[in-house]
Amino acid sequence: MSKNNSAQRATFSGRLGYVLTTAGSAVGLGNIWRFPYLAAKYGGGVFLLVYLILVLTFGYTLIISETSIGRMTRKSPIGAFRHFGSGASFKFGGWINAVIPIIIGPYYCVIGGWVIRYLAGYAAGGVQALAGDNFFSDFIANGASVEFWFLVFAICTVVVIFFGVQKGVEKVSKVMMPALVVLAVIVAIYSVTRPGALAGVKYFLIPDMKHFSWMTVVSALGQMFYSLSCAMGILITYGSYMEKDVSIEKSTSEVELFDTGIAILAGLMIIPAVFAFSGDKAAENLQAGPSLMFITMPKIFGSMGFGTVIGIVFFLLVFFAALTSAVSLAETSASTFEDELHMSRKQATALVTVIYIGLGTLSSLGFNVLSGVTILGMDFLDFFDFLSNSVMMPIAAIAICILVLRSVTIDGITAEVTLGGAPFKRKKIYAFILKYLSIFFLAVILGSSVLNVFGVIHM
Ligand code: PFF
Repeated sequence: MSKNNSAQRATFSGRLGYVLTTAGSAVGLGNIWRFPYLAAKYGGGVFLLVYLILVLTFGYTLIISETSIGRMTRKSPIGAFRHFGSGASFKFGGWINAVIPIIIGPYYCVIGGWVIRYLAGYAAGGVQALAGDNFFSDFIANGASVEFWFLVFAICTVVVIFFGVQKGVEKVSKVMMPALVVLAVIVAIYSVTRPGALAGVKYFLIPDMKHFSWMTVVSALGQMFYSLSCAMGILITYGSYMEKDVSIEKSTSEVELFDTGIAILAGLMIIPAVFAFSGDKAAENLQAGPSLMFITMPKIFGSMGFGTVIGIVFFLLVFFAALTSAVSLAETSASTFEDELHMSRKQATALVTVIYIGLGTLSSLGFNVLSGVTILGMDFLDFFDFLSNSVMMPIAAIAICILVLRSVTIDGITAEVTLGGAPFKRKKIYAFILKYLSIFFLAVILGSSVLNVFGVIHM
């Protein structure tokens, strides 16, 4: 894919090109790192159930809307909103979508840095050291080390967008992604067959209402946005590169399926292992949050034959999945700066770099040097994650729904989806959710997560 501002906008080559590239952006740390820790923390099977329902309803509605708006207007989010009107509300709708990747990108690189740290650890032969109980907490307490590895990952990302070599990265990741699936299947089988793991399989797959809380819904919704890369303008941009003869419904369904499949696989790797390897600390470890993957996977590798090799391969594959996603986040921000602030690629990359280093450093140091500083009770990384996923994305999603209902119209979306006789099988459910549920539901989620943080309600 390449961006082309001339009248003839560059397009993906065919449906496969679209699906692979979009899946490359969608599959990343969200699936492997974020989904398992949220599922572990917020209810296991009941989280999974709520997540699946949300993907098939609200997720589907948003993906179809954003992709169609992109293909219809051939613009990125700010331009696409402007296409339908020039008032302040259109400006706001475009900008909120465009700002979200700028908030997510820097802390995404911090987690990317953790991945490289572990990769380096396995390469140095430290399979048993990495499996130690305190390895992660010692690492995270060392500000210089976390910052260093964050910078390594951030530099990889910025270098790719500066030289415009996304295509090269995409090519590599097209090989890496199937490899990741194969390895994840092997590790998941190993993990679920460990003694004691069955309790984890049950916890993850069988919904139990006693683990349900409103936070289950709030976190599942945020995760759905994050994982599918929706409610942040990305899919508008990707839709704008999609050829007119590609079926929107078919290809977006495939991306949805692939993305969700990998998340479930990651859950099967990690959650049963929490039960098998934590002994009497299982309940505590389920609550571990962002560190879960980094404390659980090394235990698995530490107990396996060829643990060093598998550790290296696993973290290398996760690194590539993370890099393609980080590149797509940074690239969107760079092109927003180019288009809206009339910057050159050099200036836009410089601005991305400055923002990434500033916000990423706050996230890196929030666990150590700046651990005394909290915002609304959260460390910086958690705060950026909360701000983007639980506040800004619901607002961005509402903006998209209003844009469709008021300006694009459901008929307009239908015309775009069914262009050339392409199917729109789930049109009824699409229209129903959009008209009657989406704005109300999103507003309730937004309101409750904000009130919860301010201590007005407790979820
Ligand atoms: N969907 C990605 C993930 O699950 O890791 C995160 C992401 C990547 C969001 C790229 C947005 C984006 F443009």
